[in-house]
Amino acid sequence: MFVTHLECAACGRRHEARRLQNLCVGCGKPLLVRYDLERAARSLTKESLPGRPGDLWRYREVLPVERDENVVSLGEGWTPLLRAARLGERLGLGELFIKDESQNPTQSFKARGMAAAVSMAKELGAKKLAVPSAGNAAGALAAYAARAGLEAHIFMPRDTPRANVVECEQTGARVTLIDGLITDCGAEVARRREAEGWFDVSTLKEPYRVEGKKTLGYELAEQLGWELPDVIVYPTGGGTGLVGMWKAFDEMERMGWVGAKRPRMVSVQSEGCAPVVRAFEQGKRTADEFADAATVASGLRVPKAIGDFLILDALRASKGAAVAVSDAELLEAVGEIGAAEGLFVAPEGAACLPALRKLIGRGEVTRGERVVLFNTGAGVKYLEAFGG
Ligand SMILES: Cc1ncc(COP(=O)(O)O)c(C=O)c1O
Ligand SMILES: [Zn+2]
Repeated sequence: MFVTHLECAACGRRHEARRLQNLCVGCGKPLLVRYDLERAARSLTKESLPGRPGDLWRYREVLPVERDENVVSLGEGWTPLLRAARLGERLGLGELFIKDESQNPTQSFKARGMAAAVSMAKELGAKKLAVPSAGNAAGALAAYAARAGLEAHIFMPRDTPRANVVECEQTGARVTLIDGLITDCGAEVARRREAEGWFDVSTLKEPYRVEGKKTLGYELAEQLGWELPDVIVYPTGGGTGLVGMWKAFDEMERMGWVGAKRPRMVSVQSEGCAPVVRAFEQGKRTADEFADAATVASGLRVPKAIGDFLILDALRASKGAAVAVSDAELLEAVGEIGAAEGLFVAPEGAACLPALRKLIGRGEVTRGERVVLFNTGAGVKYLEAFGG
Protein backbone atom coordinates (compact mmCIF):
# COMPACT_ATOMS: atom_id res chain seq x y z
CA MET A 1 0.00 0.00 0.00
CA PHE A 2 1.06 3.62 0.36
CA VAL A 3 2.21 4.06 3.96
CA THR A 4 5.90 4.92 4.11
CA HIS A 5 6.47 5.36 7.87
CA LEU A 6 5.23 6.86 11.14
CA GLU A 7 6.54 10.27 12.13
CA CYS A 8 6.60 11.93 15.54
CA ALA A 9 4.39 15.03 15.45
CA ALA A 10 6.73 16.82 17.86
CA CYS A 11 10.35 15.84 17.08
CA GLY A 12 9.95 14.32 13.61
CA ARG A 13 11.62 11.03 14.52
CA ARG A 14 10.85 8.24 12.07
CA HIS A 15 9.23 5.00 13.26
CA GLU A 16 8.57 1.68 11.58
CA ALA A 17 4.93 1.38 10.42
CA ARG A 18 4.57 -2.37 10.15
CA ARG A 19 4.55 -3.08 13.85
CA LEU A 20 2.41 -1.99 16.80
CA GLN A 21 3.51 1.42 18.07
CA ASN A 22 2.16 3.79 20.67
CA LEU A 23 4.06 7.05 21.27
CA CYS A 24 7.41 8.38 19.99
CA VAL A 25 10.23 6.39 21.56
CA GLY A 26 12.29 9.59 21.70
CA CYS A 27 9.95 12.17 23.22
CA GLY A 28 6.69 10.42 24.13
CA LYS A 29 4.51 12.49 21.79
CA PRO A 30 1.95 11.27 19.19
CA LEU A 31 2.97 9.49 15.98
CA LEU A 32 1.33 10.32 12.65
CA VAL A 33 1.11 8.12 9.55
CA ARG A 34 2.92 9.33 6.43
CA TYR A 35 2.07 8.17 2.92
CA ASP A 36 3.60 8.30 -0.52
CA LEU A 37 0.88 10.69 -1.63
CA GLU A 38 2.20 11.10 -5.13
CA ARG A 39 1.78 7.39 -5.75
CA ALA A 40 -1.54 7.22 -3.84
CA ALA A 41 -2.94 10.04 -5.98
CA ARG A 42 -2.46 7.98 -9.15
CA SER A 43 -5.29 5.62 -8.21
CA LEU A 44 -7.16 7.77 -5.66
CA THR A 45 -8.51 10.40 -8.03
CA LYS A 46 -11.45 12.72 -7.54
CA GLU A 47 -12.97 11.18 -10.65
CA SER A 48 -12.83 7.67 -9.17
CA LEU A 49 -14.75 8.60 -6.02
CA PRO A 50 -18.37 8.55 -7.24
CA GLY A 51 -18.03 4.83 -7.98
CA ARG A 52 -16.61 3.95 -4.57
CA PRO A 53 -18.30 2.55 -1.42
CA GLY A 54 -20.51 4.83 0.67
CA ASP A 55 -18.31 4.61 3.74
CA LEU A 56 -14.95 6.00 4.80
CA TRP A 57 -13.09 3.21 3.00
CA ARG A 58 -13.75 5.13 -0.20
CA TYR A 59 -10.45 6.86 0.65
CA ARG A 60 -8.70 3.49 0.85
CA GLU A 61 -5.30 4.63 -0.50
CA VAL A 62 -4.84 7.17 2.30
CA LEU A 63 -5.87 4.74 5.03
CA PRO A 64 -3.24 2.58 6.69
CA VAL A 65 -4.60 -0.97 6.39
CA GLU A 66 -2.54 -3.07 3.98
CA ARG A 67 -4.75 -6.09 3.35
CA ASP A 68 -8.46 -5.80 2.60
CA GLU A 69 -9.31 -8.82 4.75
CA ASN A 70 -8.13 -6.89 7.81
CA VAL A 71 -10.62 -4.05 7.31
CA VAL A 72 -13.08 -4.17 10.21
CA SER A 73 -16.20 -2.32 9.17
CA LEU A 74 -19.73 -1.64 10.34
CA GLY A 75 -20.45 0.87 7.57
CA GLU A 76 -18.78 3.94 9.19
CA GLY A 77 -18.40 7.33 7.59
CA TRP A 78 -19.91 9.10 4.56
CA THR A 79 -22.45 10.74 6.87
CA PRO A 80 -24.72 13.48 5.57
CA LEU A 81 -23.67 17.11 5.46
CA LEU A 82 -27.06 18.67 6.10
CA ARG A 83 -27.99 22.22 5.16
CA ALA A 84 -29.36 23.92 8.29
CA ALA A 85 -31.38 26.64 6.59
CA ARG A 86 -33.72 27.48 9.46
CA LEU A 87 -30.93 27.79 12.04
CA GLY A 88 -28.80 29.64 9.51
CA GLU A 89 -31.54 32.19 8.97
CA ARG A 90 -31.92 32.66 12.71
CA LEU A 91 -28.19 33.36 13.01
CA GLY A 92 -28.10 35.58 9.95
CA LEU A 93 -25.87 33.16 8.05
CA GLY A 94 -26.39 32.36 4.39
CA GLU A 95 -24.74 28.95 4.44
CA LEU A 96 -24.82 26.85 7.57
CA PHE A 97 -24.30 23.09 7.53
CA ILE A 98 -24.34 20.34 10.13
CA LYS A 99 -22.16 17.29 9.58
CA ASP A 100 -24.31 14.67 11.27
CA GLU A 101 -21.97 12.15 12.82
CA SER A 102 -24.73 10.57 14.91
CA GLN A 103 -25.51 8.49 11.81
CA ASN A 104 -22.37 6.41 12.26
CA PRO A 105 -22.33 2.88 13.73
CA THR A 106 -22.56 3.21 17.55
CA GLN A 107 -24.07 6.65 16.92
CA SER A 108 -20.95 8.79 17.11
CA PHE A 109 -17.91 9.92 15.15
CA LYS A 110 -15.77 7.70 17.39
CA ALA A 111 -16.67 4.87 15.01
CA ARG A 112 -14.35 6.36 12.38
CA GLY A 113 -11.29 6.27 14.60
CA MET A 114 -12.00 2.88 16.06
CA ALA A 115 -12.67 1.31 12.65
CA ALA A 116 -9.15 2.31 11.61
CA ALA A 117 -7.47 1.52 14.94
CA VAL A 118 -9.08 -1.90 15.34
CA SER A 119 -8.37 -2.82 11.71
CA MET A 120 -4.69 -1.97 12.24
CA ALA A 121 -4.53 -3.74 15.60
CA LYS A 122 -5.90 -6.84 13.88
CA GLU A 123 -3.47 -6.50 10.98
CA LEU A 124 -0.48 -6.07 13.28
CA GLY A 125 -1.42 -8.92 15.59
CA ALA A 126 -2.89 -7.39 18.77
CA LYS A 127 -5.40 -9.59 20.58
CA LYS A 128 -6.48 -7.49 23.56
CA LEU A 129 -7.32 -3.81 23.23
CA ALA A 130 -7.74 -1.36 26.11
CA VAL A 131 -9.08 2.17 26.24
CA PRO A 132 -9.93 4.91 28.70
CA SER A 133 -13.05 6.68 27.49
CA ALA A 134 -15.59 9.38 28.23
CA GLY A 135 -18.21 7.03 26.76
CA ASN A 136 -18.58 7.11 23.00
CA ALA A 137 -15.07 5.87 22.21
CA ALA A 138 -15.76 2.96 24.54
CA GLY A 139 -18.97 2.04 22.70
CA ALA A 140 -17.14 2.20 19.40
CA LEU A 141 -14.18 0.12 20.58
CA ALA A 142 -16.50 -2.51 22.05
CA ALA A 143 -18.37 -2.84 18.76
CA TYR A 144 -15.33 -2.94 16.47
CA ALA A 145 -13.40 -5.30 18.74
CA ALA A 146 -16.38 -7.67 18.74
CA ARG A 147 -16.58 -7.39 14.98
CA ALA A 148 -12.87 -8.25 14.74
CA GLY A 149 -13.02 -11.07 17.29
CA LEU A 150 -10.66 -9.23 19.66
CA GLU A 151 -10.98 -8.50 23.38
CA ALA A 152 -11.97 -4.99 24.52
CA HIS A 153 -11.03 -3.77 28.00
CA ILE A 154 -12.78 -0.52 28.78
CA PHE A 155 -12.25 2.02 31.57
CA MET A 156 -14.79 4.79 32.04
CA PRO A 157 -15.68 7.26 34.78
CA ARG A 158 -18.45 5.87 36.98
CA ASP A 159 -20.77 8.74 36.01
CA THR A 160 -20.47 8.11 32.25
CA PRO A 161 -23.91 8.16 30.56
CA ARG A 162 -25.64 4.84 31.22
CA ALA A 163 -26.20 4.11 27.52
CA ASN A 164 -22.43 3.97 26.96
CA VAL A 165 -21.97 1.42 29.73
CA VAL A 166 -24.84 -0.78 28.56
CA GLU A 167 -23.77 -0.77 24.90
CA CYS A 168 -20.26 -1.90 25.87
CA GLU A 169 -21.62 -4.72 28.02
CA GLN A 170 -23.99 -5.84 25.28
CA THR A 171 -21.23 -5.94 22.67
CA GLY A 172 -19.01 -8.18 24.75
CA ALA A 173 -16.50 -5.78 26.31
CA ARG A 174 -15.00 -6.04 29.81
CA VAL A 175 -16.05 -2.82 31.50
CA THR A 176 -14.45 -1.23 34.56
CA LEU A 177 -15.98 1.92 36.06
CA ILE A 178 -13.57 4.21 37.90
CA ASP A 179 -14.27 6.85 40.53
CA GLY A 180 -12.50 9.63 38.69
CA LEU A 181 -12.03 11.29 35.31
CA ILE A 182 -10.84 9.98 31.92
CA THR A 183 -7.28 10.88 32.95
CA ASP A 184 -7.60 8.49 35.92
CA CYS A 185 -8.92 5.81 33.56
CA GLY A 186 -5.92 6.40 31.29
CA ALA A 187 -3.54 6.01 34.22
CA GLU A 188 -5.17 2.67 35.08
CA VAL A 189 -4.73 1.39 31.51
CA ALA A 190 -1.09 2.55 31.51
CA ARG A 191 -0.43 0.87 34.86
CA ARG A 192 -1.86 -2.51 33.86
CA ARG A 193 -1.32 -2.84 30.13
CA GLU A 194 2.07 -4.51 30.16
CA ALA A 195 1.14 -7.23 32.64
CA GLU A 196 -2.20 -7.82 30.89
CA GLY A 197 -0.82 -7.79 27.34
CA TRP A 198 -3.18 -5.00 26.26
CA PHE A 199 -2.60 -2.72 23.29
CA ASP A 200 -3.52 0.82 24.40
CA VAL A 201 -5.82 2.53 21.89
CA SER A 202 -6.15 5.80 23.83
CA THR A 203 -6.78 8.78 21.60
CA LEU A 204 -3.53 9.94 19.90
CA LYS A 205 -1.53 7.36 21.90
CA GLU A 206 -1.61 5.10 18.87
CA PRO A 207 -1.31 6.42 15.30
CA TYR A 208 -4.48 5.11 13.65
CA ARG A 209 -7.57 6.58 15.31
CA VAL A 210 -6.59 9.94 13.85
CA GLU A 211 -6.40 8.30 10.40
CA GLY A 212 -10.02 7.21 10.68
CA LYS A 213 -11.05 10.63 11.96
CA LYS A 214 -9.23 12.49 9.20
CA THR A 215 -11.81 11.16 6.74
CA LEU A 216 -14.09 13.89 8.15
CA GLY A 217 -11.88 16.33 6.26
CA TYR A 218 -11.94 14.33 3.02
CA GLU A 219 -15.71 14.01 3.20
CA LEU A 220 -16.28 17.70 3.85
CA ALA A 221 -14.21 18.59 0.80
CA GLU A 222 -15.93 16.03 -1.41
CA GLN A 223 -19.43 16.91 -0.20
CA LEU A 224 -18.78 20.63 -0.78
CA GLY A 225 -17.47 20.08 -4.31
CA TRP A 226 -13.78 20.42 -3.34
CA GLU A 227 -14.16 23.82 -1.81
CA LEU A 228 -13.43 23.81 1.91
CA PRO A 229 -15.78 25.80 4.17
CA ASP A 230 -14.74 29.12 5.70
CA VAL A 231 -15.27 28.01 9.29
CA ILE A 232 -15.38 24.63 11.05
CA VAL A 233 -16.84 24.51 14.57
CA TYR A 234 -15.80 21.39 16.44
CA PRO A 235 -16.48 20.22 20.03
CA THR A 236 -13.05 19.39 21.40
CA GLY A 237 -12.03 16.85 23.99
CA GLY A 238 -8.91 14.93 22.97
CA GLY A 239 -9.02 16.75 19.63
CA THR A 240 -8.52 13.78 17.32
CA GLY A 241 -11.11 14.91 14.80
CA LEU A 242 -9.71 18.42 14.56
CA VAL A 243 -6.13 17.20 14.29
CA GLY A 244 -7.25 14.61 11.75
CA MET A 245 -9.07 17.11 9.55
CA TRP A 246 -6.08 19.43 9.61
CA LYS A 247 -3.90 16.55 8.44
CA ALA A 248 -6.42 15.67 5.71
CA PHE A 249 -6.34 19.20 4.31
CA ASP A 250 -2.56 19.01 3.93
CA GLU A 251 -2.75 15.60 2.29
CA MET A 252 -5.43 16.78 -0.12
CA GLU A 253 -3.39 19.85 -1.03
CA ARG A 254 -0.39 17.65 -1.76
CA MET A 255 -2.54 15.46 -3.99
CA GLY A 256 -3.69 18.59 -5.82
CA TRP A 257 -7.30 18.33 -4.65
CA VAL A 258 -7.62 21.61 -2.75
CA GLY A 259 -5.64 24.83 -2.64
CA ALA A 260 -3.66 26.40 0.20
CA LYS A 261 -6.68 28.12 1.76
CA ARG A 262 -7.81 26.54 5.02
CA PRO A 263 -11.01 26.82 7.03
CA ARG A 264 -10.72 28.71 10.31
CA MET A 265 -10.81 25.95 12.91
CA VAL A 266 -12.84 26.63 16.06
CA SER A 267 -12.55 24.49 19.20
CA VAL A 268 -15.59 24.47 21.43
CA GLN A 269 -15.38 23.37 25.05
CA SER A 270 -17.55 23.56 28.13
CA GLU A 271 -16.81 26.24 30.73
CA GLY A 272 -16.52 23.37 33.21
CA CYS A 273 -13.59 21.87 31.30
CA ALA A 274 -11.88 24.27 28.93
CA PRO A 275 -8.12 23.59 28.93
CA VAL A 276 -7.71 24.33 25.22
CA VAL A 277 -9.68 27.59 25.43
CA ARG A 278 -7.60 28.72 28.41
CA ALA A 279 -4.29 27.88 26.69
CA PHE A 280 -5.45 29.56 23.48
CA GLU A 281 -6.32 32.75 25.37
CA GLN A 282 -3.05 32.68 27.30
CA GLY A 283 -0.99 32.21 24.13
CA LYS A 284 0.45 28.89 25.32
CA ARG A 285 1.47 26.06 23.01
CA THR A 286 0.37 23.34 25.45
CA ALA A 287 -2.54 23.26 27.87
CA ASP A 288 -2.34 22.88 31.64
CA GLU A 289 -4.49 20.21 33.25
CA PHE A 290 -7.93 21.69 33.99
CA ALA A 291 -8.75 21.25 37.67
CA ASP A 292 -12.14 19.89 38.86
CA ALA A 293 -13.38 19.22 35.34
CA ALA A 294 -17.17 18.90 35.22
CA THR A 295 -19.72 19.10 32.38
CA VAL A 296 -22.80 17.21 31.19
CA ALA A 297 -21.13 17.06 27.77
CA SER A 298 -19.16 14.03 28.92
CA GLY A 299 -17.06 13.82 25.74
CA LEU A 300 -15.70 17.28 26.51
CA ARG A 301 -14.61 16.31 30.01
CA VAL A 302 -10.97 15.82 29.07
CA PRO A 303 -8.85 17.87 31.49
CA LYS A 304 -5.55 17.10 29.74
CA ALA A 305 -5.01 15.95 26.14
CA ILE A 306 -1.75 14.53 24.82
CA GLY A 307 -2.37 16.19 21.45
CA ASP A 308 -2.99 19.64 22.97
CA PHE A 309 -0.13 21.25 20.99
CA LEU A 310 -1.50 19.84 17.73
CA ILE A 311 -4.95 21.29 18.46
CA LEU A 312 -3.52 24.68 19.45
CA ASP A 313 -1.17 24.79 16.45
CA ALA A 314 -4.08 24.14 14.08
CA LEU A 315 -6.30 26.77 15.72
CA ARG A 316 -3.56 29.38 15.40
CA ALA A 317 -2.32 28.42 11.94
CA SER A 318 -5.89 28.66 10.65
CA LYS A 319 -6.55 31.99 12.42
CA GLY A 320 -9.35 30.20 14.22
CA ALA A 321 -10.69 30.48 17.74
CA ALA A 322 -11.41 28.62 20.95
CA VAL A 323 -14.71 29.26 22.70
CA ALA A 324 -16.19 28.02 25.98
CA VAL A 325 -19.94 27.77 26.57
CA SER A 326 -21.86 26.93 29.73
CA ASP A 327 -23.70 23.67 30.31
CA ALA A 328 -26.97 25.64 30.44
CA GLU A 329 -26.23 27.12 27.01
CA LEU A 330 -25.31 23.81 25.39
CA LEU A 331 -28.28 21.94 26.89
CA GLU A 332 -30.67 24.64 25.66
CA ALA A 333 -29.06 24.33 22.23
CA VAL A 334 -29.98 20.62 22.05
CA GLY A 335 -33.68 21.59 22.03
CA GLU A 336 -33.15 24.52 19.71
CA ILE A 337 -31.34 22.43 17.08
CA GLY A 338 -33.86 19.64 17.54
CA ALA A 339 -36.88 21.86 16.99
CA ALA A 340 -35.32 23.81 14.13
CA GLU A 341 -33.68 20.99 12.18
CA GLY A 342 -35.08 17.67 13.41
CA LEU A 343 -31.82 16.35 14.84
CA PHE A 344 -31.58 15.12 18.44
CA VAL A 345 -27.92 16.00 18.84
CA ALA A 346 -25.40 15.11 21.53
CA PRO A 347 -24.71 17.87 24.10
CA GLU A 348 -21.15 18.09 22.69
CA GLY A 349 -22.45 18.78 19.19
CA ALA A 350 -25.04 21.22 20.53
CA ALA A 351 -22.25 23.25 22.15
CA CYS A 352 -21.23 24.40 18.66
CA LEU A 353 -24.36 26.55 18.34
CA PRO A 354 -23.88 28.92 21.30
CA ALA A 355 -20.18 29.06 20.41
CA LEU A 356 -21.03 30.15 16.87
CA ARG A 357 -23.46 32.76 18.25
CA LYS A 358 -20.63 34.20 20.34
CA LEU A 359 -18.33 34.39 17.32
CA ILE A 360 -21.01 36.12 15.25
CA GLY A 361 -21.60 38.52 18.15
CA ARG A 362 -17.90 39.41 18.20
CA GLY A 363 -17.85 39.88 14.43
CA GLU A 364 -15.49 36.91 13.98
CA VAL A 365 -17.90 35.08 11.69
CA THR A 366 -19.85 37.06 9.13
CA ARG A 367 -22.97 36.68 7.04
CA GLY A 368 -21.50 35.55 3.74
CA GLU A 369 -19.37 32.79 5.24
CA ARG A 370 -19.91 29.09 4.84
CA VAL A 371 -19.90 27.45 8.27
CA VAL A 372 -19.95 23.76 9.25
CA LEU A 373 -20.97 22.61 12.74
CA PHE A 374 -20.10 19.12 13.88
CA ASN A 375 -22.76 17.04 15.57
CA THR A 376 -20.45 14.37 16.89
CA GLY A 377 -22.99 12.08 18.55
CA ALA A 378 -26.58 11.19 19.37
CA GLY A 379 -28.67 12.93 22.03
CA VAL A 380 -30.50 9.70 22.77
CA LYS A 381 -27.41 8.37 24.56
CA TYR A 382 -27.64 11.18 27.15
CA LEU A 383 -31.14 10.74 28.56
CA GLU A 384 -29.93 11.49 32.11
CA ALA A 385 -28.99 14.98 30.95
CA PHE A 386 -32.65 15.55 30.01
CA GLY A 387 -34.11 14.11 33.20
CA GLY A 388 -34.52 10.62 31.71
C1 LIG B 1 -20.04 13.12 21.27
C2 LIG B 1 -18.61 13.56 21.42
N1 LIG B 1 -18.23 14.72 20.89
C3 LIG B 1 -16.96 15.17 21.00
C4 LIG B 1 -15.99 14.45 21.67
C5 LIG B 1 -14.59 14.99 21.73
O1 LIG B 1 -13.88 14.40 20.70
P1 LIG B 1 -12.31 14.51 20.47
O2 LIG B 1 -11.70 13.65 21.50
O3 LIG B 1 -12.04 14.07 19.08
O4 LIG B 1 -11.95 15.96 20.67
C6 LIG B 1 -16.33 13.23 22.24
C7 LIG B 1 -15.31 12.44 22.97
O5 LIG B 1 -15.59 11.57 23.76
C8 LIG B 1 -17.67 12.76 22.11
O6 LIG B 1 -18.05 11.59 22.62
ZN1 LIG C 1 9.25 12.54 19.20
